Amino acid sequence: MSNTEDTVSSNISEEDGKIDFNDRSETYYRLNRLNANLMERNYSLMMEKAELEKKYRELSGTLNEMKKKNSKLISELKHFRTPPHVVGEVIETLDGDRVIVKNGIGHYYVVKNLKDEQNLDDCELTVGKRVMMDYKNLNIVGVLPPSRDPIVSCAQVIERPVATYRDIGGLEEQIEEIRETVELPLTNPELYENVGIDPPKGILLVGPPGNGKTLLARAVANKTHAVFIQLVGAELVQKFIGEGGRLVRELFQLAREKAPCLVFIDEIDAIGARRLGMDTSGDREVQRTLMQLLAEMDGFKPLDDVSIIAATNRPDILDKALLRPGRFDRIIEIPPPSTQGVRQIFDIHTRKMRLDWRIRKNLDEIAKMCEGFSGAEIKNTCTEAGMFTVRAGGKKVTMAHFIQAVKKVQKKRDGEDRKVLDSEKSKIYL
Ligand SMILES: Nc1ncnc2c1ncn2[C@@H]1O[C@H](COP(=O)(O)OP(=O)(O)O)[C@@H](O)[C@H]1O
Ligand SMILES: [Mg+2]
Repeated sequence: MSNTEDTVSSNISEEDGKIDFNDRSETYYRLNRLNANLMERNYSLMMEKAELEKKYRELSGTLNEMKKKNSKLISELKHFRTPPHVVGEVIETLDGDRVIVKNGIGHYYVVKNLKDEQNLDDCELTVGKRVMMDYKNLNIVGVLPPSRDPIVSCAQVIERPVATYRDIGGLEEQIEEIRETVELPLTNPELYENVGIDPPKGILLVGPPGNGKTLLARAVANKTHAVFIQLVGAELVQKFIGEGGRLVRELFQLAREKAPCLVFIDEIDAIGARRLGMDTSGDREVQRTLMQLLAEMDGFKPLDDVSIIAATNRPDILDKALLRPGRFDRIIEIPPPSTQGVRQIFDIHTRKMRLDWRIRKNLDEIAKMCEGFSGAEIKNTCTEAGMFTVRAGGKKVTMAHFIQAVKKVQKKRDGEDRKVLDSEKSKIYL
């Protein structure tokens, strides 16, 4: 730049002085050169400009992106800064758009019913509704759905279990008994009404583990088209006082809502055990949960269309109160399968397996080897035989695989037996 200015200024100073007409051609030549220089300079500056413009466009694109990111982060930050809402329950509605609400820790407040201003659509604030309140001024800002989470977290609601009576081997008598006591009252209640008796409400399935107690309960629910609510007794044992009782209450409320339905409490000995001398506060809480269960079964409200099945493998330690008539008064024993039962269970579990044709003839023999196995162990044997086949790369299960599987399950079983004997618990399973 400065170079060009110098040339121009020197030229002008020359012109300012005397004009040399003789040297015209030289001036012309110099001006021409200057012009060429300037044009070249102009060209390079234009190129520079184009490049800068390109850069500018790029940077403004990045800037836009950054702005977007920034506003997103600001909104996120705002979200983090919003205070939590307090959950409350409407206790009473007062005149003049005011309501009394109770918060989680039992404090009562009179607050303004902000329904109109907040556009809480069609959710009218009636007594018992769960509401969301502002953290600072406790105004109602929203209506919540009724609480049912605690029970959902401890019980499993199955609309229609898949097991059927056909999947149970060797328990014909027990199936017959359970049909009489659970299925018929749910499907044909008039039979009992005609005779004028109340069918039994509760049934207790007892027997060693893995012999089909859970399976039987599921099969009944399938046959009766009843909703099946399954939970494990241990889930009712809660940390805080009163929680277990509340769970039982909510469980029965759910059962009444879903009726006809079948409540299945597995391993009921967790809450139904007799008191054994020591009496800690934990034991008392378990007792209270049991009392609530008994009260619900006796029923301040009738338990129409709700049957209760419980299962345990420790009937010896159950509280007598549970077994009183009107509660779990029907006790059905589910024994380990007989020789014939073992054969039937084998048939059930090999139904879908691809077997070598010779096995079908020899299933009796395999069944004989498995005498004393529980239903679950027989199922395990079939699975193991399949596993051996897969490992050997075969497509059909052969006799050798079955024998290997039986030996494996037997070995595991012997090991467990010894463990039980060692710890002198041989009387656990009646
Ligand atoms: N009598 C039976 N017939 C067919 N399968 C059975 C039988 N008993 C047990 N099983 C198999 O063992 C598994 C476990 O049985 P389960 O009913 O859960 O035993 P539990 O008596 O401990 O509740 C079942 O899913 C089923 O596959
Ligand atoms: Mg079970």
